[in-house]
Formats: sequence, structure tokens, C-alpha cells
Amino acid sequence: MARFALAAAALLGYASTVLGDLQTCGQAQYDPAQYVCWDNQFLCPITAGEPLSNCAGACYSKFMYTCTNNILTLLPPVDTPFTLSVDNPGLPIHGKPVTAGGQHWLLDGETSSYCPSQVGSACPPGNTTVIVASEGRAAMSVMVPGGQQAYLDPYWNMAYTQAHSAYIPSGSITTGLVAYQGGGFINLNGNGWGWVACPPRASGGGGKGWNLVAKNATNAYMLNECSAINLKVNSLHSDTIGAWQYT
Ligand SMILES: *[C@@H]1O[C@H](CO)[C@@H](O)[C@H](O)[C@H]1NC(C)=O
Ligand SMILES: *[C@@H]1O[C@H](CO)[C@@H](O)[C@H](O)[C@H]1NC(C)=O
Repeated sequence: MARFALAAAALLGYASTVLGDLQTCGQAQYDPAQYVCWDNQFLCPITAGEPLSNCAGACYSKFMYTCTNNILTLLPPVDTPFTLSVDNPGLPIHGKPVTAGGQHWLLDGETSSYCPSQVGSACPPGNTTVIVASEGRAAMSVMVPGGQQAYLDPYWNMAYTQAHSAYIPSGSITTGLVAYQGGGFINLNGNGWGWVACPPRASGGGGKGWNLVAKNATNAYMLNECSAINLKVNSLHSDTIGAWQYT
């Protein structure tokens, strides 16, 4: 079911784009900037810079599915800590990491962390943003007792709890956040609208990081300056801890 939602969301993005040079795919004409042709018969949209793959006529994202013997199946959930990186070859931040700072996830910002001096040499490096996920929930990979849960805040930004606090603002969403092995970090709450990257505002004074927003039917109209991206999961060794705590 999710794949239909995904394809529908992908199609929503196309209404206003200019047609380039058309090519043919079987009997159909298509714009190669927006679609990819498989086996000279199946057209799949390019969404978030990813030409969707074809599985016996169904278009799918490799960030979520795999096609085995012409059958589409979900990738398994990741079972190790991981980092995330931006995926959309059309953007300057393609390949750049998701970074924790100011209790939010940013794109290509600076990871911001802290370790008490008493912990000494046991402090993890704290310079990369490491995440863990299971059962639809995500958390920061940290040593601090109580951990730091990650969640979608009421503005649909990804946020995380402060160390030593379980406080999560009301209206936040803590479930439906899934990381797929060899795939992406997917927000299942948005009906397939996916993630967008919003460029840092020149006037904002918020540093160089791009903002990460989960798009949905309600906020889509406010996100015209932002570009669709995938968040690629980069699996790490099972005992990787990113920081004592992220700040
Ligand atoms: C993080 O710090 C470690 C240890 O100081 C260093 O080896 C590594 O290159 C750093 N990584 C990044 C991404 O800055
Ligand atoms: C979409 O996100 C906005 C925040 O940007 C939130 O206020 C709204 O409730 C969300 N809409 C849906 C349908 O979940």
C-alpha cells in the first residue's frame, strides 16, 4: 500500500515543471528530466533526484523496497546504529550528513555534543551524529543515562530530547520513523510526502546548516523553497556510540 502513496506523492510534484526535450518510451513520450523509462515500456518518475526503479511494472524507491523475483518487498529494518546523509544528486548538500545541534536535526551543520570531564577518555568522539532506530522509534546513540529520544516536533522538524529530560512538546510524533537496511530513514506519518531540505536563510543567522522538514498535505504550500530529499542510512558497527550527549 505504501508504494502507491509514494508514487502518488511523487506525481504531485510535477504539475508546474517546464517540459524539456521529449524522448519516447514504447508508445509514450516523456521528459527525461522527470521520468525514467525501463525496458522501453515502463515509465517511472524521478523523485527527490532518484529515478524510481521498476518491479514488474510497479515503480518503487530503493530507499524503502527491494524487488526479488518480480515481487516488491520492504527492506528489513536496520539493526545497528547508523548515520544519515542527504541524497539528491541535484543539490549542493548531496552526501552531506544529518547533524544534531540545538536539539534538532540539521543537514550539513555541525554536530554539537558534550561530555563531562569526569568521563574522560571514555567519552565518544561526539563529532558525528549517530542514530538508532527500532520498532518505528528513533533515538540518538548516546551514553548519557536515560538516552535522548528523537521525534517529529509539532512543526514537523526532527528534534531530540535534552539529556536528563523526557520532555517532548505536545503535538509531537514519536512513532512511524523507520530506518531501512541499505535504504533510507522514512517518515511513515506523512502519507509519502517525504523529507525536504530548506536552504539556510541569509537573514536567519542560524549557521550554515539546511533545515530538515517532513512534508505533509498541510505544510506543503509553505515549503516551495525547499527540495525533496531522501535520507540515506549508513550502517555502523553494532556498538557505535556517537556522543555522551548531543546538545
Ligand atoms: C571525529 O573525531 C575523531 C577522533 O578525534 C577523528 O578521528 C575523526 O576523523 C573525526 N570525524 C569527523 C567526521 O570529523
Ligand atoms: C503537517 O505538518 C504541520 C507542521 O508543519 C502540522 O502542523 C500539521 O498538523 C501536519 N499535518 C498533518 C496532516 O499531519
